[in-house]
Amino acid sequence: MQKKLKIAALISGSGTNLQAVINACIKKEINGKIVCVGADRPNALGLKRAKKHNIPAFITDYKKIIADNNIEKKLPVDFNIKKISSLQKLFDKTNKKIERFFKTRAVAEADILNKLDKFKFNLIILAGFMRKLTPYFIDKINKDSKTPKIMNIHPALLPAFPGTDGYKDAFEYGAKIGGCTVHFVDYGEDTGAIIAQKSFPILDGDTLETIKQKGLKAEWELYTKAIKLFEEGRLTLITKNAAGRGGFKIKREIVKILERMV
Ligand code: GRF
Repeated sequence: MQKKLKIAALISGSGTNLQAVINACIKKEINGKIVCVGADRPNALGLKRAKKHNIPAFITDYKKIIADNNIEKKLPVDFNIKKISSLQKLFDKTNKKIERFFKTRAVAEADILNKLDKFKFNLIILAGFMRKLTPYFIDKINKDSKTPKIMNIHPALLPAFPGTDGYKDAFEYGAKIGGCTVHFVDYGEDTGAIIAQKSFPILDGDTLETIKQKGLKAEWELYTKAIKLFEEGRLTLITKNAAGRGGFKIKREIVKILERMV
């Protein structure tokens, strides 16, 4: 049997995706195991799931860090604001507010990295993790851009409806198809290379609640499928010319799924 894939999970909420991956590992649908769970808040319900399965867990209290008036004294020694803000595409200008964003996130991310360090993980999955990761963190995990090691699950069919509320945005827009996406995390917001997607019909009788139920059920199945492909070494990135904003061509990394190795 191949060595088990070691998965580190980051959560913010109920952790139903975390539970789905734990179950998939127990049922051997994935040849892997969750080696640790990190939460951005002490009251993340998903921490109870980690405890129930004896999975080591840690908390990086973002709220406390973001409110810290002495953040300058806690910056990681290798933090470089010019480098980080030039890499991150989220903001089109740098100002005091943006600088504080990057500084507080770097302190939080350095704490996560420090707590993750002792777990020899091969993959990080964001399982309902509601924080933007900056290049400070991403570049320390992705040793090279061709083999990304951070996955996220998003509640919409990207590139439609990025942001924090995909199901609600699709429902309010009047979309007739809903869905979810597993993608690699890059510097943008929900812009990383798409690994897998799953759709479902949005029917006249649907409410936001019924859509979220359909969505979560699809997520649990999709995340397992995406992690299994990663574990089997079947995900690789290729560079394509893609349509950018305003019709300009841009270089875009897309996922190619390799045939199963016999
Ligand atoms: C999910 O809809 C996921 O797409 C989004 O967070 C929601 C909560 O996930 N990122 P979970 O129940 O905490 O796994």
